[in-house]
Amino acid sequence: MITLETFSDINDEIVNIRREVFINEQKISEEEEFEGGEENFVHVCAYQKSMLTGYLRISVKETFLHIGRVAVKKQFRKQGVGRTIMFFAEKLGREKNCKFAVLNAQKQAEGFYKSLGYCADGDIFYEAGIEHVRMVKEL
Ligand code: COA
Repeated sequence: MITLETFSDINDEIVNIRREVFINEQKISEEEEFEGGEENFVHVCAYQKSMLTGYLRISVKETFLHIGRVAVKKQFRKQGVGRTIMFFAEKLGREKNCKFAVLNAQKQAEGFYKSLGYCADGDIFYEAGIEHVRMVKEL
């Protein structure tokens, strides 16, 4: 069973999953991953047996829900954790009157977001040395 919880700032568990996935696995620098201002986001966590297995953060700008840093622990991937946490974030966005969800997807994860109803919007660009594309979904 997956349980979901939100936080108004990062904590040690969140730092650990982001370090594990983005810094250790994807080789993004510590400075780029933790660039400050974390208190400006809502941090969404998925737990299985009280272990943090999935994470993302959101912010609202006008009617846009911005989703970022989507991460699932490696050994828990392809089991629906990513989908569950994304749908929960979209629900939070609808509750805040957002009309669209937007995110900068890594190209390798584009298929994941497509399977959830997101469409690519614009050209490929590089962030932290990784190919990205902006994707949008109507909520
Ligand atoms: N490419 C294409 N499709 C993918 C995919 C990928 N990289 N990862 C998952 N999918 C598909 C699944 O097969 C599933 O399809 P289905 O509905 O037909 O069964 C659907 O997307 C949902 O998958 P789910 O199991 O919920 O995803 P997940 O828990 O494995 O999480 C990521 C997906 C991308 C969040 C996870 O692989 C991850 O944390 N990767 C490393 C960090 C990362 O790249 N984050 C994204 C940054 S933009």
